[in-house]
Amino acid sequence: MSIAHGIRLLGVLGAGQMGTGIALVSALRAKVPVLIHDRSQDQISKGFSLIDKLLAKDVSKGRLQQSEADEARSRLRVVDSVDAMRDVDMVIEAVTENLDLKRTLFRGFAEKLRPDAILATNTSSISITKIAAAVIPDGKTAASEEGKASSGRVVGLHFFNPVPVMKLVELISAVQTSKDTLDRARAFAEACGKEVATSQDVPGFVSNALLMPFINEAIICLEKGVATRDDIDKTFRLGMNHPMGPLQLADFIGLDTCLSIQQTLYNGTSDSKYRPSVLLERMVDAEWLGRKSGKGFYEYK
Ligand code: CAA
Repeated sequence: MSIAHGIRLLGVLGAGQMGTGIALVSALRAKVPVLIHDRSQDQISKGFSLIDKLLAKDVSKGRLQQSEADEARSRLRVVDSVDAMRDVDMVIEAVTENLDLKRTLFRGFAEKLRPDAILATNTSSISITKIAAAVIPDGKTAASEEGKASSGRVVGLHFFNPVPVMKLVELISAVQTSKDTLDRARAFAEACGKEVATSQDVPGFVSNALLMPFINEAIICLEKGVATRDDIDKTFRLGMNHPMGPLQLADFIGLDTCLSIQQTLYNGTSDSKYRPSVLLERMVDAEWLGRKSGKGFYEYK
């Protein structure tokens, strides 16, 4: 028997590419009303114009009725603060990869949202256990019933970009995550039309612990002149049937994001195999961040 996720109202924090995609699949596939908050109005406008474009494309290709697109759109509502999310059954945080920022946000969720709301993060490498430790109520210990109940609601739900296209969600259990939280988070990801793979809370989880050394080695090959950019990417596109070569994929993910994940991996393990390449660091110093800034290993118009 499938487990009911019980999510009747969802909150999404962050209207960047990931937050927007998560809001869209939740409204369209799981058919759940979604409250979205981002402190940047510009980000909200960009996010909603992407959502409108994707829904219109699905309608024009006959994959969606206009009425279904309209219903999905009507389930999405922008709110001006986290306070307006007080009735959500789950919040998914998709903001910048910064531990202090996430800990502050999760502390705010614990104070403002319902005590049984699931608190999920879309982080791609930050420790879920550290985030969960931030939600223990003041004056209570981690081992108290209140401490365990509060941090037991925190879970990693890691979507992949582009969210509407990629079929996977990585489900990450913090040391503190309760079984009920894990089961409901999994059921929700499945309701969004995703397959779920589970990972323990290690730096980078399974996905980035494997992907980032691969991307980093590709950059080191380029740095050493082992092969050209195009030949490195061609090798993987045509030799291994990857949809993108590793340098193209690094540009797609964002070179700053790749560097930040690699630093988390390196700092979290002290293993030299995760040390970011100098070329990647220099490109980020130059603000050549890949697609988002118009230049990375490739140029984008
Ligand atoms: N949002 C929504 N849909 C998008 C999209 C976006 N940003 N970009 C492309 N698509 C859709 C297109 O609209 C198109 O849909 P239809 O077939 O319905 O028309 C479909 O994807 C294919 O797009 P294209 O034909 O334009 O291009 P493509 O065939 O080259 O596919 C791609 C594009 C899906 C991005 C493909 O190149 C791909 O799968 N690349 C690898 C992506 C990947 O590995 N993502 C994971 C990155 S790692 C991560 O996210 C997590 C992390 O922690 C770092």
